[in-house]
Amino acid sequence: MTTNANQVHALETAALIKKAQETLVANDLGGYTVPTHGLYPFQWNWDSAITALGWKHFDEPRAWQEIEVLFDGQWDNGMVPHILFHQDSTTYFPGPDIWGSDKRVKSTSISQPPVVATVMKDMLETADNKVLAVEKVKSLFSSLVDYHLWWYKERDPLKTGLVVSYHPWESGMDNSPAWDEALHDVPCVDWEYERRDLGHVNSAQRPHKSEYDRFLFLVDFFKKHKFDSEIIFNECPYKVNDVGIISILHRGSKDILALGETLGIEDARLNVIAQRIALTESAINTLWCPDAEYFYCRNVLTDTLCKVRTSAGMLTVFANLADEKQTDILNSKAKQWNEASKFCMASTHPEESRYEPQRYWRGPIWLHINWMIALGFEAEGFQETADKLRNDCRALVDLSGYYEYFNPETGEGCGGKDFSWTAAIALHWLL
Ligand code: DGY
Repeated sequence: MTTNANQVHALETAALIKKAQETLVANDLGGYTVPTHGLYPFQWNWDSAITALGWKHFDEPRAWQEIEVLFDGQWDNGMVPHILFHQDSTTYFPGPDIWGSDKRVKSTSISQPPVVATVMKDMLETADNKVLAVEKVKSLFSSLVDYHLWWYKERDPLKTGLVVSYHPWESGMDNSPAWDEALHDVPCVDWEYERRDLGHVNSAQRPHKSEYDRFLFLVDFFKKHKFDSEIIFNECPYKVNDVGIISILHRGSKDILALGETLGIEDARLNVIAQRIALTESAINTLWCPDAEYFYCRNVLTDTLCKVRTSAGMLTVFANLADEKQTDILNSKAKQWNEASKFCMASTHPEESRYEPQRYWRGPIWLHINWMIALGFEAEGFQETADKLRNDCRALVDLSGYYEYFNPETGEGCGGKDFSWTAAIALHWLL
């Protein structure tokens, strides 16, 4: 770049940093950050963890508070719910009454990908205020271990090595085509309801009613069974091994062990986590499809792989679950995938028949997913792939700002605007 081009780039970066910080401040409801006002007016689990990564760049105490408030909603059994309904709102459906929340902090009865451990490790390692960071990790550590043990004990009681998920919303990749077959087998609710998401976002970018009917059936099912883990494990009409959750959990568990070692924490439960890590490592290849040479999710109830290429499979590199040969193959695939649309990496491969570039999780780009995938490839020495992901994501925020997700063909921002995790990942990774 010439000196002039450098100056322009620096000015643009400064403006984007300011805007990203303003986005988080505007979405701050006092201790927790909403993903965006209106569409998502509560605290979401993985959104909050990712958002803390943004806060840490200009307010470390506030970043730690985000995590503390998240754990304040932890259930006695260790689960950290997917949504914490800290206060009422009329702009979202389904709220706490539909979920049948009976906890001190009202919440949903499912979780979300547990990226919080990896975030906490990053926050400790990069902290300016080390004293504060050590104090916070030490005080949250036991709850973090409880959370991971909840995943293993409740969602893999038979010790298969692969936890199950009970709801597409638990994956965070709510409307991914990977869930289509498994969700199709779930009955529809027989009551009328009014969706609120369509009042905020164009319906072409959101799930269909046929999917919501089933999402809600599952919510009713959990409530009907009073969140009884044994009954739900045995009878839930939707059970999926989500390679995204499995990878994020696995990476987080290794990060917990590393945190324990760094801080000299002795906790016998860490041995259980180590055993579960080994189990997952020996089971992950059951999700590898030799024909497609790709990691898929699995419908547990029919014991069939969900054969559609979504970016979830790439998270095995982030978790270091893919072996050397598989990582090499995935890197070649990532290169081809990245070239298949103008911007990369589409959440569903553009050559899949179910790819839709602007519908929720059926094609659009999510920055936090690409950040995790890039981290994985970078750690394995595939710098070119990591750089491509980063440069394209930067181009997206340059072009469209901090939207929830982006159309890979045009770069257009989709879903909610002024979105916390997009602003946070920009601060953390792109700027
Ligand atoms: C929604 O309501 O679409 C949320 O993403 C569920 O987590």
